[in-house]
Amino acid sequence: MVLSLHRLDPAGDDRAALVDFMTRNVFPFHVRPRLSVEDVERAICEGVFRSDDNDSYWIEHPHMGRIGFLRLEDLTDSAPLLDLRLDGPFRGRGLGAQALRAATDLVFGTMPDVNRFEGQTREDNVAMRRTFLRCGWVKEAHYRDGWPVEGAEPVASVAYGILRRDWLTGTTTTFVWEDLAL
Ligand SMILES: CC(C)(COP(=O)(O)OP(=O)(O)OC[C@H]1O[C@@H](n2cnc3c(N)ncnc32)[C@H](O)[C@@H]1OP(=O)(O)O)[C@@H](O)C(=O)NCCC(=O)NCCS
Repeated sequence: MVLSLHRLDPAGDDRAALVDFMTRNVFPFHVRPRLSVEDVERAICEGVFRSDDNDSYWIEHPHMGRIGFLRLEDLTDSAPLLDLRLDGPFRGRGLGAQALRAATDLVFGTMPDVNRFEGQTREDNVAMRRTFLRCGWVKEAHYRDGWPVEGAEPVASVAYGILRRDWLTGTTTTFVWEDLAL
């Protein structure tokens, strides 16, 4: 089943749906797990969802309809970063991997200057980390204590990436973590 991505208009037609999606869902592994209407309205005004650097999409399933949201960041760099959020009822069903594949197809299929696509998450977001691995992404960094947690100790931030050449060939290029001996 192939998911499709539909570019959304955050300040226009999609404004109300975007505010609804962001405020009725909880995102336990994001820096801000709960967003208020004011938070989302401010982000819309600041261009967080659409600007030179950012763009956002609804994730649509052919039978189930709208199942989530995708944002691409750092689009003025040659290595964009993703933020993937499934709607609550659609989590835990393996749809994240399909959504990540659709996002990767979008980036490499429509952005010829992009050779790397990146993602970052908390170390305890096991579902997202497994989703990266299932889709052939490679762990490229483990920033110890790199993710602040309100009212608790920081956790590590883990970075994954996929290369255009791996996407084209369906392979996963790895590397040696400790490649320099003492
Ligand atoms: C993160 C997210 C995209 C993952 O997609 P999903 O379809 O819900 O993922 P699943 O629950 O099917 O889990 C993916 C894999 O992790 C495994 N998994 C999930 N939670 C786990 C846990 N606590 N311990 C061990 N394995 C776990 C699943 O069994 C599955 O394994 P598999 O690939 O071997 O089948 C989705 O849950 C989501 O949108 N979460 C909220 C937003 C978010 O955290 N986004 C990440 C920001 S980049």
